[in-house]
Amino acid sequence: MPSFQLFFTFPLWLALILHSTTTTTLSQPAAPPPAPPGPTNITKILEKSGQYTVLLRLFRMTKLSNQINTQLNNSNQGMTVFAPTDNAFSALKPGSMNSLSDQQKVELVQFHVVPMFLSTAQFQTVSNPLRTQAGDTTPYNFPLNITTSGNQVNISTGVVDATVANTIYSDGSLAVYQVDTVLLPMRMFGPPAPAPATVPEKNNKKSKADDGVESPADEDGSASAEASGGVSFRYNLGVLMAFIGMFYL
Ligand SMILES: *[C@@H]1O[C@H](CO)[C@@H](O)[C@H](O)[C@H]1NC(C)=O
Ligand SMILES: *[C@@H]1O[C@H](CO)[C@@H](O)[C@H](O)[C@H]1NC(C)=O
Ligand SMILES: *[C@@H]1O[C@H](CO)[C@@H](O)[C@H](O)[C@H]1NC(C)=O
Ligand SMILES: *[C@@H]1O[C@H](CO)[C@@H](O)[C@H](O)[C@H]1NC(C)=O
Repeated sequence: MPSFQLFFTFPLWLALILHSTTTTTLSQPAAPPPAPPGPTNITKILEKSGQYTVLLRLFRMTKLSNQINTQLNNSNQGMTVFAPTDNAFSALKPGSMNSLSDQQKVELVQFHVVPMFLSTAQFQTVSNPLRTQAGDTTPYNFPLNITTSGNQVNISTGVVDATVANTIYSDGSLAVYQVDTVLLPMRMFGPPAPAPATVPEKNNKKSKADDGVESPADEDGSASAEASGGVSFRYNLGVLMAFIGMFYL
């Protein structure tokens, strides 16, 4: 009999709860719903640790965290992020970050992202040079080399050597590793590229602006769109004035 009673009281409870929540949402300015577990969020992962404030700032500035989250959701290759600590950024030569253009900051952050999930075991068998999110595998287009010796994982950019210090996160799709050195790419911090390599460099920059990365080129695009909007507005105004003028003739 108590189960019989339950059978009737449960829907009643439910109705009461639903009723009360409906009335509160109606009477109050919608309270934010509890955050669902949701898709993987690189920002959240790095925020938890507290020692990646510079990287997080760069992520925010370059909007790369959105790109990573979206790409993770849409690709089955997964992704690997090498996250330099705040100490790693402090160890850089003073002013090295400030001397970079916005586009170079984007590239620097992308250089720390490999568009493929790499477990610690996979570091042993990875084939070098490794493509990063910043370009392809040609020498001045932001490749990384990963070598291992025992449990030590060594990342070489041609300018600096870093070791993987720690696994921050790994779920089979996204891997985030702590590195104690900022990975400095040859393109920005190495010796100047040999003469033939400087010619295609410009073309590469152009095509990169097209693949979703925010760049000054995008701003120029919208600016010119606004300008042409202004022209057509003026044109329409002219037509309108002419039209009104006709009635006065
Ligand atoms: C990821 O987490 C950050 C901070 O916790 C939050 O501001 C951001 O909205 C989240 N992004 C997504 C797509 O959930
Ligand atoms: C994730 O992918 C699904 C299906 O591909 C899509 O419907 C959804 O909008 C994506 N979410 C984000 C945050 O990109
Ligand atoms: C890491 O790799 C670089 C270049 O391949 C090498 O010069 C360096 O000695 C290596 N470091 C360690 C700790 O294995
Ligand atoms: C990376 O590895 C490739 C292939 O082994 C080699 O040709 C290249 O010089 C290496 N680059 C760096 C920066 O270690």
